[in-house]
Amino acid sequence: MQDATNLIKFPEYHNKINGKTVKTVNPPVYNGSTVLFENYEDFYLAHSGKYNGITYGTDRLPTQRAFEEALKKFEGGYLTRAFQSGISAITNTLLAFTKSGDHILMCENVYRPTVLFCNKILSKYNIKISFVPPDVGEDIIKYLRPDTKLIFLESPGSNTFEIQDIPAITAIAREKQIITVLDNTWATPLFLRPFELGIDVSIQSVTKYISGHSDVLLGAVTVNKRTAKIFEEFYKIMGIIASPNDCYLALRGLKTLVVRLKQHEKSALKIAKWLKTVDLIKTVIHPALLDHPQHHIWQRDFKGSSGLFSFIFKKNYSKKEMASFINSLDLFGIGYSWGGYKSLITAGRYKRSGGSQYSDKTIIRLSIGLENAVDIMEDLEKGFNALKAWGRNNFHK
Ligand SMILES: Cc1ncc(COP(=O)(O)O)c(C=O)c1O
Repeated sequence: MQDATNLIKFPEYHNKINGKTVKTVNPPVYNGSTVLFENYEDFYLAHSGKYNGITYGTDRLPTQRAFEEALKKFEGGYLTRAFQSGISAITNTLLAFTKSGDHILMCENVYRPTVLFCNKILSKYNIKISFVPPDVGEDIIKYLRPDTKLIFLESPGSNTFEIQDIPAITAIAREKQIITVLDNTWATPLFLRPFELGIDVSIQSVTKYISGHSDVLLGAVTVNKRTAKIFEEFYKIMGIIASPNDCYLALRGLKTLVVRLKQHEKSALKIAKWLKTVDLIKTVIHPALLDHPQHHIWQRDFKGSSGLFSFIFKKNYSKKEMASFINSLDLFGIGYSWGGYKSLITAGRYKRSGGSQYSDKTIIRLSIGLENAVDIMEDLEKGFNALKAWGRNNFHK
């Protein structure tokens, strides 16, 4: 059965009113702290840790569990837990699998707050971090140390979209008992199956494509069998809990993910190819384009591409010039996050080592939404014309 069917083919949800069954397609939202026991015997079992039902709200009520179960099946993992945001899923994963004295390898193009957590928080607990090139593959071996405990990847990485050779890295890590973690938010399990490539822990910012409507902050971590025990215990002891309302919305988002993501993919590719023909633009960075530096790896490992990519202008524009372009767009919101139905734009510079072609360049990132692709291109064209007009009008100033 295909993903689109599997994601929809979940059980119906039942209740009884006046002896008649009430079946709804979607689950009820359970909000609650206290969970009432049937009787003292069950309470006694719970008190002695032998009860297999839900004992309290932090045990995750049926709504959180329904979302986790659906995502676990989609990921093909062993256990999934929901977090209150994607960054919370990331920071807690890093904490769960490391201890004082351990060393982490992290590719340098990861989401910036992931780096900040390592540099500012993990360092306080004597956990050491080294950053590796964003297109790392089997050369990861050069960076391994006897105390390396975990490798953290994000592929393609934030803003500059370099791709790592995941199977080459996981083969080496597995041999050395190193845990591999992938932030798979860009592709989602629809376009990349981390466990089939040897990854131990797969992270989603559910905020993005899975929720899809920019109205939810949620994260999720799915682990394989080998890492499940440590992770499950950590989650429980830390008292982590995601909101049932957000899990409900994320579960709803999952049902329509396939159609949405395929539309994001189609429009983004069309727009990326068109941007390559625009005279002001030097480079379009999109893994599905033939000239992307790791296109061959994308083609080998991924089943599709999503709606987020970047481009670089030929000229290094001033803040005022950039404003003339970005402020003239009508369809693009200026704002963080991505994966929702509305197109968004950001621009920034990112540190990349080793003489990267992207260092010191302003990277313009587009999250292509579900608007009509031709309308989006016309909007961008209007922005480029505004930029050219600004140049003409300010030529002598
Ligand atoms: C690649 C990636 N991972 C994780 C996150 C964090 O997700 P959240 O916004 O749900 O905390 C983001 C947010 O932009 C992201 O781009």
